[in-house]
Amino acid sequence: MALVDRLAYGANRAARVGWYTAHYFLARRIAPADGERRATREEGLALRAELRRAMADLFAAELADIESGIYRAPPPFELPPHELVARSLRFFADIREVDARRRGRVNDEPFRAGLRPDLPRYYLQNFHYQTDGWLSPQSAALYDTQVETLFTGMADAMRRRALPPLRRALAGRLRSAKLLDIACGTGRFLAEVKRNWPRLAVTGLDLSGDYLAEARRLLAPWSRVDLVEANAEAMPLPDAAFDAVTAIFLFHELPRAVRVRVAAEIARVLKPGGTFVLVDSLQKGDRPAFDGLIEAFPRSFHEPYYADYARTDLAALFGEAGLRLRETELAFMSKVTSWQREP
Ligand SMILES: C[S@@+](CC[C@H](N)C(=O)[O-])C[C@H]1O[C@@H](n2cnc3c(N)ncnc32)[C@H](O)[C@@H]1O
Repeated sequence: MALVDRLAYGANRAARVGWYTAHYFLARRIAPADGERRATREEGLALRAELRRAMADLFAAELADIESGIYRAPPPFELPPHELVARSLRFFADIREVDARRRGRVNDEPFRAGLRPDLPRYYLQNFHYQTDGWLSPQSAALYDTQVETLFTGMADAMRRRALPPLRRALAGRLRSAKLLDIACGTGRFLAEVKRNWPRLAVTGLDLSGDYLAEARRLLAPWSRVDLVEANAEAMPLPDAAFDAVTAIFLFHELPRAVRVRVAAEIARVLKPGGTFVLVDSLQKGDRPAFDGLIEAFPRSFHEPYYADYARTDLAALFGEAGLRLRETELAFMSKVTSWQREP
């Protein structure tokens, strides 16, 4: 890679991290954290140094993979400036509502409003105290800005770390294979996939029609995209239909028993020998310096199943379903694991 490309990569990443870090601190100003013990100055400095190190590690891994042609350098922002700013303004306009919910510990509005009694109870919550839960176009339009702000511009970068194990698994078959992304949300990961491998046939599945509508818009430039509104616990998809399955930031939002059912479904729809790639939160002990953040996160953001997920034995969960661990990579605040269905 030419020096100029490396510099462009660095400048792009700096622009993105700078933009969303500014969102993070402005949001904290509008709605200061409550109740939590404040870190001492030394603790704060040490944690920030660890965060910077983890961020730099991810960028180094990404740059190495871009240089060896595993995937393409990402653009700094995926939206034109006026849309980016419009989304930010909507995000800031919503913060006080989110904060009022946080302070009042109000987290079940979709359930109490009787919005969709056909959907599972665990789903009808305000995860992160978000407005409307998963169930409105407004929520879907805010989600990407919320997640990038939470991760100071690193969310897409963490998602992209699913690309290298996928590429290894699908080597030579990137034009013929089929990929399923479970809980695809607004389609962020599938957009990364299509940007790199436009001929790969992809299916995105999610329980939120509003999030899928957002995904449909984002993925409109590409063909071979199928979007399915369904529950990952019982997917309306045939057995052994996919060469690869991904699940990004889903499992920490599922109750323990549901995780087991979704893991079994993943194994069912994968071809024998097929690959599953999971991107989700770091677990306790993965990066000991972040264990405090892992403890605090579900208290400040409504994440009722997160603490249990952070202690889950993933090898047991997916092993029970017939999936064997192949690779693990820590990617900033996430862990990427890849699994193979028994041939
Ligand atoms: C934290 S978001 C992650 C979305 C996306 N994968 C990403 O990278 O941003 C969780 C997603 O899981 C979906 N979801 C939660 N439970 C589900 C279930 N049982 N079946 C299908 N989708 C589910 C939600 O609708 C939401 O879009």
